[in-house]
Amino acid sequence: MNQSLSHCQMEIRNAQFFFECAMKECETKFNILLAELSLKNEHTAIQRISSRVKSSSSIFEKCRKKKLSVTTDSILNGIFDGAGVRIICSYIDDVYRIREMFLGQDDVVLVKEKNYIQCPKENGYRSLHLIVQIPVFLSTMKKKVNVEVQIRTAAMDFWANLEHELKYKNEYKDMTLIQELKHCSETAHLLDKEMLHLRDRITLFNHSSLSG
Ligand code: GTP
Ligand code: MG
Repeated sequence: MNQSLSHCQMEIRNAQFFFECAMKECETKFNILLAELSLKNEHTAIQRISSRVKSSSSIFEKCRKKKLSVTTDSILNGIFDGAGVRIICSYIDDVYRIREMFLGQDDVVLVKEKNYIQCPKENGYRSLHLIVQIPVFLSTMKKKVNVEVQIRTAAMDFWANLEHELKYKNEYKDMTLIQELKHCSETAHLLDKEMLHLRDRITLFNHSSLSG
């Protein structure tokens, strides 16, 4: 690929436009779920929603790595994380409930799923990743656009954010540091499991005191 970033700006900008539309569609879906859950007094299932479109330099870099030509179509077909939406849940079972609610919608097509909660990454990273296709409707056309959705608990998010920051600060290669970070991930996971257990006990207690 012999193109410079400035030559490709127009194509990248077009792709970013589609990524942004799909990201907004997706965000709206989660905001509606959040509003519905709040109405049912289950407002803590989704704590936070954030999203981003990949920057033009990152798209350009990814095209170079994946040997994609820098055209709008090849970017849209070959880059799966151009649009990203992250959902932060309270409890581990909320992650799966939100997954079901989202994938149950008939205009959302699951392309790929990676469950780093069941199978954490070697460094301890945990999160549920979905690549979905969402239709974007324009004046004369409809286009299916990939969105990367990451769903995880607040504890998993806390760990991932700090790990990300530390990784950039010192490209850590120190084995002790890597082990300690992994240990922190286990601790965060234990906290997730204990909180879930505690919530279930409280729910059970409330139910039995109501019925008794
Ligand atoms: P890219 O890494 O995006 O090229 O794609 P991939 O196919 O390897 O996807 P994967 O699902 O493994 O990771 C996608 C995204 O998840 C990343 O861009 C990060 O946002 C997040 N992620 C994956 N692994 C880690 C990790 O070890 N630490 C942190 N903090 N985030 C991670
Ligand atoms: Mg990525």
